[in-house]
Amino acid sequence: MLAIIDSVALQGLDGQRVRVEVDVSHGLPCLDLVGLPDAAVREAKDRVRTAIKNSGLEFPIQRITVNLAPADLRKEGPVFDLPIAIGILAATQQINYEYCQDILFIGELSLDGSIRGVHGVLPLVLAARDMGLKRVVVPLENAAEAALALDMEVYGVANLAELAAALRGEVELQIYQLEAGEAPAPQESEVDFADVRGQLAAKRALEVAAAGGHNVLMLGSPGCGKTMLARRLPTILPDLTFEESIEVTKIHSLAGQLVHNDPLVKKRPFRTPHHTSSAASLVGGGRVPKPGEISLAHHGVLFMDELPEFHKDALEALRQPLEDGCISVSRVAASFTFPAKIMLIGAANPCPCGYQLDKDRECSCTPFQVQRYLHRISGPLLDRIDIHLEVPKISYAELTDAPPGEPSAQIKARVEQARSIQRERFKGLAITCNAAMGAREVRRFCKPDPAGAKLLQEAFKRMSLSARSHDRILKVARTIADLDDSEIISVNHLAEAIQYRGLDRLFRG
Ligand SMILES: Nc1ncnc2c1ncn2[C@@H]1O[C@H](COP(=O)(O)OP(=O)(O)O)[C@@H](O)[C@H]1O
Ligand SMILES: [Mg+2]
Ligand SMILES: [Zn+2]
Repeated sequence: MLAIIDSVALQGLDGQRVRVEVDVSHGLPCLDLVGLPDAAVREAKDRVRTAIKNSGLEFPIQRITVNLAPADLRKEGPVFDLPIAIGILAATQQINYEYCQDILFIGELSLDGSIRGVHGVLPLVLAARDMGLKRVVVPLENAAEAALALDMEVYGVANLAELAAALRGEVELQIYQLEAGEAPAPQESEVDFADVRGQLAAKRALEVAAAGGHNVLMLGSPGCGKTMLARRLPTILPDLTFEESIEVTKIHSLAGQLVHNDPLVKKRPFRTPHHTSSAASLVGGGRVPKPGEISLAHHGVLFMDELPEFHKDALEALRQPLEDGCISVSRVAASFTFPAKIMLIGAANPCPCGYQLDKDRECSCTPFQVQRYLHRISGPLLDRIDIHLEVPKISYAELTDAPPGEPSAQIKARVEQARSIQRERFKGLAITCNAAMGAREVRRFCKPDPAGAKLLQEAFKRMSLSARSHDRILKVARTIADLDDSEIISVNHLAEAIQYRGLDRLFRG
């Protein structure tokens, strides 16, 4: 008899329908798996056979043919164990075939018949929902994650014997319900801007960055507080919307980075790849493409400490995603895109010894060494960074006597206000924040008043700025005016924005 069971294969984050066709007929006992299965699917044969036997069910001593259709679609991973097993049980009438219709089955089988959790459950279930399926059977440990796909009936099942009994109508499975209290509430953060003493200029610059979605490069001596400041940036960004949370959760699901009993990612990601990271670990990839650090930072912050120490090709790999907000990964069989809307915060010592900007210590580097060091951050990458920030070392007196800083919640309220102005401004356009403006939007939305225009013109000559820096200054000035609730970009707004190009001189030459 032939049984057909629904399943889904992921291509990046997108799902495609797969039909698991199982035919059991007379002939020499064997199990043939066709339809381009990868190594993991082939191993599924052995797991399925043993799991069925160890669940008190019968593995047919007949000719079994399993076809995963469509054949030209590349299928990866162990998620097909369960639909294959269900197909075999249905084809041999050990369960009721009728009950297996219009249900998505996801799960890896252990040899003892228990159903093990898999990666990528949320994107799989969302894809099934888009295909019109209403019910899904998932490993028990993935049930909370699957239930994030609203309007789906989710059944979390621990082992094959239990599932088979339900599919014979002997027991009833409970629909998994998100318990009250599991409902998303943004978690308290362990860090807060109030912890940072002094550093008013740096905090202000990060507020501007958060308000407009601008990338930042911080330069300063070791220990001046760069890491401390960057870690607090997510605490002043607006809360994730539910849709954004789901997008982030899908990516983290694929990477296997969710907490099983609390799978929804509610906090903005803060990712800190080490400077020894390869380009592949940043952008993602691999035989079964997995999202990289840039995608794991989607809707959050990618903090790259010691930016000049990163490999050249890793820095190069950042350019396209910074430009497009997504990453394209090409494979022989297909190409996928992973989302990657991030704020990049780079931090660097200003020179190899670290003390070039330090008032108290002598820098031991030659001008040539300094330049060679900073030039590792290539022009095109630097071009994506709107705000340059020199972080000074605070004095001992400031560290001990300065009052606690303003709490993150207050700064965040101002950021949210400025963001709502931007949403209104860009209604109907594909962008949501000032940093994403192209040349055309800069012309349209960033006209300074006459005094501002004059200041910019003077600065342009004095600092011999490039045309790109010119647009960057206008975008940042737009954000500063928004924080000021001002439609007009005036001379004060521009003066502050020009300050954030102070490092252009270090990079020139
Ligand atoms: N403004 C500040 N207020 C309070 N503590 C600070 C401040 N700046 C630095 N520190 C302390 O110094 C430590 C080192 O700072 P860090 O952020 O690691 O410096 P960097 O990344 O620039 O080398 C921090 O963990 C913090 O304890
Ligand atoms: Mg640091
Ligand atoms: Zn130095």
